[in-house]
Parts: sequence; structure tokens; C-alpha cells
Amino acid sequence: MSTDPFFRVTNLVKSYQMGATTVHALAGVDLAMPPNTFTVLMGPSGSGKSTLLYLVGGLDRATSGEIEVDGQRIDTLNENDLALYRRRTVGFIFQSFHLLPTMTALENVALPMRLAGVPKRERQERAFELLSRVGLADRAYHRPTELSGGQQQRVSVARALINDPHLILADEPTGNLDTVSGLSIMTLLSELHTAGRTVLVVTHDPRMRNFATDMIYILDGLIVDEATYTAAANFAAPGMEHA
Ligand SMILES: Nc1ncnc2c1ncn2[C@@H]1O[C@H](COP(=O)(O)OP(=O)(O)OP(=O)(O)O)[C@@H](O)[C@H]1O
Ligand SMILES: [Mg+2]
Repeated sequence: MSTDPFFRVTNLVKSYQMGATTVHALAGVDLAMPPNTFTVLMGPSGSGKSTLLYLVGGLDRATSGEIEVDGQRIDTLNENDLALYRRRTVGFIFQSFHLLPTMTALENVALPMRLAGVPKRERQERAFELLSRVGLADRAYHRPTELSGGQQQRVSVARALINDPHLILADEPTGNLDTVSGLSIMTLLSELHTAGRTVLVVTHDPRMRNFATDMIYILDGLIVDEATYTAAANFAAPGMEHA
């Protein structure tokens, strides 16, 4: 079996210019994850978690540094190839669901396949199969406003899986959910990991540790070890109360 990392981030920097000051959302992140890992990323509010996920997911561009996923450099891709990467390799689960309000659950789930040019019949079958898998077969024709928060998150998980991505990125997927709905999302992510996918999850939920193969910690845009993170958390810095 290959020991090459499934994804590797090298000296990744993301800065924002805010008037006279520069905000370093990521201040030089180095990270390498083997294939088929389930990594939990923890850090206080504003530490750069979402920024890191967005860059690895090809949703935003870094200021500098390298990102390699599944043997492919993604920081050097042009817009077209980056769109293909997002569609074929990555499944992204957002904290706030990002469902389209005028579309049914089925249409929302099938959307990435529509963008990939898959025929209607085939994408509807696959979308229905995935909705069944997340326990929502009987809600396929509901619109997001006709679904509970947990159900909407499950629709967004089904949508993230529709193109069978090798890398699943989830940004606080259980943050808005009740305890039971949260656990069912965690279990689903864990099943995907068991089925061979690589999963990277940002979460404050301590239960996610039970599923993780790896834990990583981020403070002020830099990856730190657990001892440093715990010591900082003990000072109860603002925003760390949940971490
Ligand atoms: N578009 C932007 N313009 C300027 N600064 C930004 C922008 N997006 C993020 N930042 C800053 O970058 C830093 C990292 O933000 P990020 O969203 O990655 O944090 P986070 O760890 O996901 O926090 P949270 O737990 O609150 O979601 C923050 O200080 C934030 O204010
Ligand atoms: Mg965030």
C-alpha cells in the first residue's frame, strides 16, 4: 500500500488586507494526512478552521503555499480544472447547509450531478438512493423550509456525497443540530471513512473524537500540538469555551 499522503498542505498562508492591517487567517500551515483517515480539526473561533477547509476544498485561493490532494496540485489549477476538482474529488458539508430554497430535497441532492451533465433519470435515482440512506426517502419532495434543521443537514450530507467524492470536508456539520441528529451525522461520516474515504471535520463536539483516527489543533492560523492547545484552552481565551 502506498504511504503517500492523500492530501498535503505546505506553508499555506491566507491573508486579508483590512485597511492598514493584515489579518493572517492562516499563517503557514503544514499538514499531511494519509488516505482513509478520519481527522478532527479543533480550534477556537477565528483560528482559521473554515479558511483551511475552504482552501483544501478549492472554494477559495491561498495567498501562498501548496495544496496537493490525491497526487494533484490544486493551488496551481485554473478555474475550470478547479471546478472539476470540486465536483469530482470533494464533498463539502457546510455548517449552514447552503440548500437552494426553491428546490426540493431531491433536486438539491441531484444538483452536483446536473452540473456534471448526468442524465436526469440517473441523477434522480441516485439522489433518491442517497436520501434513503440518510433516512429521508419520505421527504424527497419537501423544500428546505418544510424540513427540520437536522433534516436539512442530512440533505446537505446527501448532496455532498452524490458524486462519490474521495475527500469529505465538513465544517461543524453537527453545530446546529440536536444531540440525536448530530450523532446520526457523525455515524454516517464514520461509515464513509470505513468505506475508504478520507474525512476532515471541523467540530466542537467532543463525541466526534470517538470516530477520529487523528486529531489536529489550530491556534491563530497555525497547527499546534495537543499539549499547547490544551494549555491555551486552560487560559480560557475568548472563543475557546466550546473547544
Ligand atoms: N473575508 C474575510 N476578510 C477578512 N478577514 C477574514 C475573512 N474571512 C475570515 N477572516 C478572518 O480570518 C480569521 C479566520 O477565520 P475563519 O473563518 O477561518 O475562522 P474559524 O476558525 O472557522 O472560526 P469559527 O469557529 O468562528 O467558524 C478570522 O480572524 C476572521 O476574522
Ligand atoms: Mg468557521
